[in-house]
Amino acid sequence: MHDKYSEISAHWHGFTQMASYEPLVIRQAEGVWLTTIDDRRLLDGVASLWCNVHGHAKKEINQAIVEQLDRVAHITTLGMSCDTTELLAQELVRCTPGDLSHVFFSSDGSSAVEAAIKMAFQYWQQTGQSSRRKTKYLALHSAYHGDTTGAVSLGGIEYFHKLFAPILFTPIRGPLPCSYRRPEGVSEEDASQYYASRVESLLKQHHEELAAVVMEPLVQGAAGMITHPKGFLRRIRELCDRYDVLLVCDEVATGFGRTGTLFACEQEQVTPDILCLGKGLTGGYLPMAATIARPKIYDVFLGPVAASKQFFHGHTFAGNPLAAAAALASLSLFEKESVLSDVVPKSEHLRLRLDVLKDCPHVGSIRGRGLMVGIELVQDRESKTAFDPALLLGRKVCELATKLGVWIRPLGDVVILMPPLSIQETELNMLADVVVSSIQEVVNGFDPAIKIHTSL
Ligand SMILES: Cc1ncc(COP(=O)(O)O)c(C=O)c1O
Repeated sequence: MHDKYSEISAHWHGFTQMASYEPLVIRQAEGVWLTTIDDRRLLDGVASLWCNVHGHAKKEINQAIVEQLDRVAHITTLGMSCDTTELLAQELVRCTPGDLSHVFFSSDGSSAVEAAIKMAFQYWQQTGQSSRRKTKYLALHSAYHGDTTGAVSLGGIEYFHKLFAPILFTPIRGPLPCSYRRPEGVSEEDASQYYASRVESLLKQHHEELAAVVMEPLVQGAAGMITHPKGFLRRIRELCDRYDVLLVCDEVATGFGRTGTLFACEQEQVTPDILCLGKGLTGGYLPMAATIARPKIYDVFLGPVAASKQFFHGHTFAGNPLAAAAALASLSLFEKESVLSDVVPKSEHLRLRLDVLKDCPHVGSIRGRGLMVGIELVQDRESKTAFDPALLLGRKVCELATKLGVWIRPLGDVVILMPPLSIQETELNMLADVVVSSIQEVVNGFDPAIKIHTSL
């Protein structure tokens, strides 16, 4: 019998085994630094789950939230709106690629994807008799698009998603366009063509029943920072046009500067039909997400009220004005400060600092784009054979890093580094050095030659 009041933690954490959870509680944060309730300082190496952009307690964002709070905290977006939310919609239209023109707000990345699934579905239902069969989705192998039921249906990470199969819809499953593990005989240069041709076979076969291809552009984050070969996204855009299937790009993880451009799609000059944003939208301060559509989608939802063409979807806290104020402040910081132009030099610096791991026989790959980095630990580098997952090596590396002052969280045996974009050089050095020595100690034996800047 549980004694209600004697439990250490009343808080049930996601993706966390509570039986062995050792509470790690933060009381304050500033910049990239987190302070625990027992006064330990930790560098936030995963940007509070990939969402913090400008650092914690950024004056401009705090101020924008407080000013908004004095005006109004919340207004529904069902049939009305707040001026701050209106302004944000305009700004998002301005800064997103191509002719993306209409912003549908929700509160988290999964909901942004969920809205995209339903938006694509309803679009085809209202486009014409012959399109009504378009009710399926193509998602990539090892895809991750969130944890609500529709998003999990698109998901393809066995460990996370398999359990829920009986309550999910089944997508058409595309390849894993992985640059690191390519099929034998497929060179790096040929990889994008190879993977795209596999998608094309599926489109050829299924296009009449396909509503949309849903994918993360350039990097599949939760799959383990799987980087796509150059040109893959561009080819998928062309295929979607050729086979009359919508392209939904999930930039919940890659958006807002992570990969070195404001949106990853820009790097291959691609405009998706529907773009999903979340995480960094508010600078990582408040829950807000957006599903942004092109006019060709939006227009199909217009008509007389009696025609019932409006989008049948909506959330209570969608477009929340406090979150919108934070998002506007974050976007203006991108303009005022050199956040975006600094991402590539910072990522190059980080890579150089991590280069020492190239001598580690158990580091298979250091990959990613911009400040979105994964270090894959492998048993055998030559054959790219993974370690036995039961060894929990990724986890052990991260536990050691935390002891050394850097908070990171692995994805299996891929050690993830995703600091706030505002991270400074000395902080990058500490992040890299702690990660290097943690990996060396856990998989290789500790190399004392690596100096850790714990004085920061
Ligand atoms: C690509 C992608 N899509 C969707 C989501 C879900 O976002 P949220 O956790 O805000 O629901 C995530 C979260 O990590 C993600 O990485």
